Amino acid sequence: MSGFSADWLALREPFDVNARNADVLDAVIATLAGNTQPRIVDLACGTGSTVRTLAPYFSPGQTWKLVDNDLSLLARAADLTKHTGVSVITAPVDLNHDLEAALDGAVDLVTTSALLDLVSAPWLERLAVETLARSIPFYAALSYDGRVEMGPAHAMDKAIVAAVNRHQRSDKGFGPALGPDAATAAVAQFEKLGCVVVHGEADWVAGPKDRDFQNEVLAGWASAVRETGDVPLTDIVDWLTFRRDQVAAGTSSLRVGHVDMLARPGKR
Ligand SMILES: C[S@@+](CC[C@H](N)C(=O)[O-])C[C@H]1O[C@@H](n2cnc3c(N)ncnc32)[C@H](O)[C@@H]1O
Repeated sequence: MSGFSADWLALREPFDVNARNADVLDAVIATLAGNTQPRIVDLACGTGSTVRTLAPYFSPGQTWKLVDNDLSLLARAADLTKHTGVSVITAPVDLNHDLEAALDGAVDLVTTSALLDLVSAPWLERLAVETLARSIPFYAALSYDGRVEMGPAHAMDKAIVAAVNRHQRSDKGFGPALGPDAATAAVAQFEKLGCVVVHGEADWVAGPKDRDFQNEVLAGWASAVRETGDVPLTDIVDWLTFRRDQVAAGTSSLRVGHVDMLARPGKR
């Protein structure tokens, strides 16, 4: 599985659902309480994980505009109306170039998940300014924050995670990515502009039975670390072999730090 393949997004979705921070989610639900026809824009929607997760909490009159630049993922997201009954339209947009177009029209809430660690500081500022200028609340779930716990321990864990975090900062189409700084930067950016921000941890937690998920994450990290050149190849192979053996033996656990946030325009 590569990058943002539909298979990978499907594999991670249950872990994302479990990870979402309940207090932040409650605040999101409260934001749209009483709105019988909420209009929501989901940025970088993938196959529509955010719709599947949030739709049951909102009025049946909800409508979603789903935005992504991957046409194959968008085609799957377009099927959501059939599966969820909620009204969905899709918009093929490169958010680096046309963020403003994605936000145009009447919007009650902007959502995203697993996007902010891909974007740069200037793009994050642009997003904050554009949502605030339109007085739209903004919910960003599952921004990776650099915390990783693996069990049992291996001598290379620290070096591997440091290299993963360095790789996270490489350009993902928006300029140098915020990577593990995304969550802190996003909270600070929206607060600086006067928003009231609710935020909290939303970690992936995988146990011994979650073999496919752990193997996929570990393989992705090994490949990212190889690209950085920070760790000798033989050390990466030793580390990955150890980790995969633990997964196969049912003795491996993994916790990956993420943060959810909701920013609401403050009174000015
Ligand atoms: C990690 S996936 C998250 C997908 C979805 N939000 C989820 O949680 O399952 C990141 C998403 O960002 C989209 N993306 C990346 N760069 C983009 C860009 N420049 N414009 C629009 N979408 C982009 C990818 O196509 C992918 O769907």
